[in-house]
Amino acid sequence: MAAALSKSFCLGYYFLLLCLIGFISHPAKAAVKKYLFDIQVKNVSRLCHAKPIVTVNGRFPGPTVYVREGDRVQVNVTNHAKYNMSIHWHGLKQFRNGWADGPAYITQCPIKTGHSYTYDFNVTGQRGTLWWHAHIFWLRATVYGAIVIMPKPGTPFPFPQPHREETIILGEWWNNDVEEIEKQGSKLGLPPNASDAHTINGKPGTLFPCSEKHTFAMEVEQGKTYLLRIINAALNDELFFAIAGHNMTVVEVDAVYTKHFTTQAVLIAPGQTTNVLVQATQSPNRYFMAARPFMDAPLTVDNKTATAILQYKGIPNTVIPILPKLPAPNDTAFALSYNAKLRSLNSPQFPANVPLKVDRHLFYTIGLGINPCPSCLNGTRLTASLNNITFVMPQIGLLQAHYFNTKGIFRLDFPDNPPSPFNYTGVPLTANLGTTLGTRLSKIVYNSTVQLVLQDTNLLTVESHPFHLHGYNFFVVGTGIGNFDPKKDPAKFNLVDPPERNTVGVPTGGWTAIRFKADNPGVWFMHCHLELHTSWGLKTAFVVEDGVGPDQSILPPPKDLPPC
Ligand code: C2O
Repeated sequence: MAAALSKSFCLGYYFLLLCLIGFISHPAKAAVKKYLFDIQVKNVSRLCHAKPIVTVNGRFPGPTVYVREGDRVQVNVTNHAKYNMSIHWHGLKQFRNGWADGPAYITQCPIKTGHSYTYDFNVTGQRGTLWWHAHIFWLRATVYGAIVIMPKPGTPFPFPQPHREETIILGEWWNNDVEEIEKQGSKLGLPPNASDAHTINGKPGTLFPCSEKHTFAMEVEQGKTYLLRIINAALNDELFFAIAGHNMTVVEVDAVYTKHFTTQAVLIAPGQTTNVLVQATQSPNRYFMAARPFMDAPLTVDNKTATAILQYKGIPNTVIPILPKLPAPNDTAFALSYNAKLRSLNSPQFPANVPLKVDRHLFYTIGLGINPCPSCLNGTRLTASLNNITFVMPQIGLLQAHYFNTKGIFRLDFPDNPPSPFNYTGVPLTANLGTTLGTRLSKIVYNSTVQLVLQDTNLLTVESHPFHLHGYNFFVVGTGIGNFDPKKDPAKFNLVDPPERNTVGVPTGGWTAIRFKADNPGVWFMHCHLELHTSWGLKTAFVVEDGVGPDQSILPPPKDLPPC
């Protein structure tokens, strides 16, 4: 289409020459894929409760953004809901283009009711499964959908071509208004109510009341292979996913190809995606797919199980499906061994370019705590911090403040290390060790290589935390239980084929080390992808400076960037 158009411009000699040069240097000109996202409220009924929810185009989950590597994507978002809105394209690198990244008050001000903003971005050097979601308060509970990036034409998958593919989005459902639940929680200073159900493609499945109609089913043909694009869009739960009678072969995580391995269950943290191949080689029947939390922290366990159905062709709906065996909710051993199997494909075509030399060493402790709160029910509120700093959201977008050099919005003194070392994962500590509030960011030199060790602590309690970095993928070079040992642990790092991703779990009472090359200038949010912890302040941002070259600085902001 784009090629045909540009051909029609080839009229005069000049144009002919220009076009020939153009065709030689851009054999397949990027297509522009346009989407209209209308943010609207719609009545949706689950678990015998009907309630108005915020949606995109009245759909729940929202529409899949289906593009090809190399495409330019323009999503026009118009907000017809009473809430402020912003949309994040989770895992898209947005090279030099933080304006299209989406986190409210970090890279843009929200799109107000009655207003529009067009997210305009290129999909460069990425292919696979990602997803999009609202990035303001808890609205992503219902405002989310898949992003499928197909490889460039003529580039096959590095695994057997599946017969068909399906998107499997795991989520959480609350019977009450999620924004109200969150407000209630922060008034009380306590965690808000846990969700009432888990969902698969927006549906809880037959283990929940009134869910006969609300069960997702996928038909398969005996002998064929299917690609499942699994996304964890849940707000607060890491999940196990399994299919009765069928193993899965993991081939990709967070839109990066992996070495293949076969597993009975997948472990997936909020924010992560996992592509698996499933072979329909069992006796024709109806099999449950199921998702249930993994929670190995010493907290109450939520074992509500969402189900969907893998249905062989010709089997009637009256057949009762078989349930899969999921790992126990506190099966830490399974989780550790599953994560240890994840490796980058690291082929000549898809190399793992792990930074071998580190310019900047960062060590961030993750802490929960209790702060005084005179207006809260118990006089205290739960809080969370990185290196003892609880992040305070600014009133205007940080990227704007950085780009236009507006003073007084943030400070660039986020510490590279915790203020004082302690036995991070020893006995529980209830004191919050002098946590301070602030909009404090860390400045990173363009193109420098960064190693960040995220260390869980036993401040209040140990817990696992899926950390997400915007604007980048990173390599997960090491992880362990207990305290990170800077003398011994780096010797055990995998610098050859570590998994490359955008969201990684820091294990309960343990640490995770990541590396990335700061080649994308901008202001990039980093936060725990458990919404509960994000709202308690478990977040910060990196300011990656411009380089000196022509393509090494932040692009100018688009004209329709929402004002504050
Ligand atoms: Cu998927 Cu900042 O989030």
